[in-house]
Amino acid sequence: MRRTVLATTLLMLGTLVFDASSQLIGSEDGSSTAADKACQSLNETFPEIVSFPGSEQFADDVEHWTVSSQQNATCSVEPRDTSDVSAIMKLIGRPDIRAPFAVKSGGHSFNPGFSSTPGVQISLARLTDLVYDETQGTVTIGMGLTWTQVYEQLEPLGVMVTGGRINGVGVGGFSLGGGFSWKTNQYGLTIDTIVAHEVVLPSGQQVNVTNATEPDLFFALKGGLNNFGIVTKITLETHNQSLVYGGALTYSSGNLSQVNSAVSDFSQNNTDPKAQMVVTYVYTHNEVVALVFIFYDGPTPPAGIFDSLLAIPTVASEVKTQTFVNFVSTFVQVEQPVTGPFGDTQHVIPIVQYTQPLLDEMATQVQAFGANLTAQNNGSTVVVGAAPELFLNPFSHSRGGAYPHPPSREVTPAATYISYQTDPNLPFAAQSTKHALFVSELKQLSYNIQARAVSEGVSRWDDILYPNYALADSPLELLYGSNLERCKALAAKYDPQRVMSLTGGFYLGN
Ligand SMILES: Cc1cc2nc3c(=O)[nH]c(=O)nc-3n(C[C@H](O)[C@H](O)[C@H](O)COP(=O)(O)OP(=O)(O)OC[C@H]3O[C@@H](n4cnc5c(N)ncnc54)[C@H](O)[C@@H]3O)c2cc1C
Ligand SMILES: *[C@@H]1O[C@H](CO)[C@@H](O)[C@H](O)[C@H]1NC(C)=O
Ligand SMILES: *[C@@H]1O[C@H](CO)[C@@H](O)[C@H](O)[C@H]1NC(C)=O
Ligand SMILES: *[C@@H]1O[C@H](CO)[C@@H](O)[C@H](O)[C@H]1NC(C)=O
Ligand SMILES: *[C@@H]1O[C@H](CO)[C@@H](O)[C@H](O)[C@H]1NC(C)=O
Ligand SMILES: *[C@@H]1O[C@H](CO)[C@@H](O)[C@H](O)[C@H]1NC(C)=O
Ligand SMILES: *[C@@H]1O[C@H](CO)[C@@H](O)[C@H](O)[C@H]1NC(C)=O
Ligand SMILES: *[C@@H]1O[C@H](CO)[C@@H](O)[C@H](O)[C@H]1NC(C)=O
Ligand SMILES: *[C@@H]1O[C@H](CO)[C@@H](O)[C@H](O)[C@H]1NC(C)=O
Ligand SMILES: *[C@@H]1O[C@H](CO)[C@@H](O)[C@H](O)[C@H]1NC(C)=O
Repeated sequence: MRRTVLATTLLMLGTLVFDASSQLIGSEDGSSTAADKACQSLNETFPEIVSFPGSEQFADDVEHWTVSSQQNATCSVEPRDTSDVSAIMKLIGRPDIRAPFAVKSGGHSFNPGFSSTPGVQISLARLTDLVYDETQGTVTIGMGLTWTQVYEQLEPLGVMVTGGRINGVGVGGFSLGGGFSWKTNQYGLTIDTIVAHEVVLPSGQQVNVTNATEPDLFFALKGGLNNFGIVTKITLETHNQSLVYGGALTYSSGNLSQVNSAVSDFSQNNTDPKAQMVVTYVYTHNEVVALVFIFYDGPTPPAGIFDSLLAIPTVASEVKTQTFVNFVSTFVQVEQPVTGPFGDTQHVIPIVQYTQPLLDEMATQVQAFGANLTAQNNGSTVVVGAAPELFLNPFSHSRGGAYPHPPSREVTPAATYISYQTDPNLPFAAQSTKHALFVSELKQLSYNIQARAVSEGVSRWDDILYPNYALADSPLELLYGSNLERCKALAAKYDPQRVMSLTGGFYLGN
């Protein structure tokens, strides 16, 4: 039975998988000379920062949060500063080389090939400068830092920035795609708090970008991801930080309808921008549990905000008053529910508000897909999740940018995901085939949930998808909306040689 379902799905996917892998093999064959040539040249120019398979540095450079986003590059390089990045870009894009490459910051991309490559892996791990300017109320940070590393340095100074919510996420991809933060209700997305970028264009030219000096690039880099070169530093606004209140609450399946009632109440009635909630319905060990992260940006929440939720019996509760760094660090385990090496695929449903029937449907869909995929996978663990993120007027601080997030349509991301056990030594082509199966299931799960949201009037089929969560084949129209033509024109202007077509991502150059 299981084999039949699997075999049928594989047959349906057959053409796609064949095409994808032949393209992959084709490009690996066709470009192996380019990658070898680039790696030889890089090794001659920068022997001290280039690595090859087998070395520890190489292993670190290609490592990703999820195994399915990991690939065996030809070589890796760790630029020490902006000039190194510039020299590397010039070499990779040389007309006689044009090697496939990838840029990795925190390596948390869910899409295979977005920050991995069979060619030159550029790891920004050494770009870790952090300079706090107390007078301006800003901090300039290197794109190789993780948000937790930034928070750990800012906390003793009494200030914080609008960054990642969970341990380990990189500053790079996060801040070029949007950035939904615990601070978003109060200050906007991360891109709304960026006042300057330092970027190396695809040509290798270094540019300091502010709204005053480079308005086009300033717009483009706020959502344009890796289309406009490699960003080496960003300058962000800081805000004073006190102790915070919050943590994770876990509820068993029998209590979900009470939880959903409390969550929809919060979604529709909360008016305090310091309060936030992320709910995750997770299918694991044959049942759906709800993990609810609550956050209040102050030592104690005013009475009422979380009371109905806190009154429901929990399986586990880790809510307390604590430092911001402590709070963010507690989320490591819950986001990595599969022990051992795992593959992971994620997508997003754009939703403006959460009703109880919609939350119930999310849990029901997660249950159905979790049970089926577990049955199909022969006892190997599969985790299925859907995660509403409850913000309050998150786009009211919007300052524009390539990622459309107007106050007139505040679509927030509900993530859907599937995690599965896998073998890190599987060849990339075999891993891709396995991954494609889960991607196809994830699309169906997301479609089912969005259909319900659309029928409830809280989502539209043409609502913008958050690019940091969206699957790799999401249409550009759904990522950039009415900004798409301007974004494409800017990509043509800043990358006339189409150097960024040599890397993965939501490419604007076609
Ligand atoms: C555990 C976990 C928690 C998360 N939490 C949140 C959250 O709270 N809020 C949220 O909004 N998102 C969140 N995300 C999604 C996150 O924003 C994306 O996964 C993002 O891509 C991560 O950035 P990264 O630098 O770690 O990834 P990478 O894989 O290193 O990069 C992602 C993409 O950005 C490009 N890129 C990276 N750095 C640069 C650079 N300096 N210049 C040009 N291009 C660059 C890469 O080439 C790649 O295409 C989370 C993801 C995970 C896995
Ligand atoms: C890289 O360069 C060093 C010399 O600096 C050389 O010893 C090494 O063999 C080169 N590596 C490769 C894979 O070419
Ligand atoms: C990575 O590539 C190197 C060189 O081609 C090869 O020796 C090694 O076996 C590969 N590793 C994996 C995990 O595929
Ligand atoms: C960008 O700004 C930095 C810091 O002020 C400066 O060192 C650098 O030279 C500037 N780069 C360009 C290309 O102007
Ligand atoms: C932030 O803290 C500093 C130092 O304690 C203080 O001088 C300043 O007024 C505070 N700013 C705000 C907006 O609270
Ligand atoms: C609610 O959760 C508690 C704690 O996990 C559990 O003991 C109880 O049985 C649950 N209620 C139902 C109806 O399942
Ligand atoms: C919002 O609050 C009002 C007033 O307390 C209440 O009647 C309503 O049920 C709440 N909404 C939800 C979805 O719980
Ligand atoms: C689960 O599997 C059954 C039997 O194959 C099928 O009828 C049903 O549609 C599947 N449900 C989901 C959510 O995939
Ligand atoms: C499922 O289990 C059987 C029996 O142990 C094994 O032969 C088969 O390879 C497994 N299939 C998968 C996909 O793991
Ligand atoms: C950039 O400058 C323009 C023109 O002065 C202004 O309209 C716009 O709001 C500014 N954008 C940001 C993000 O500050």
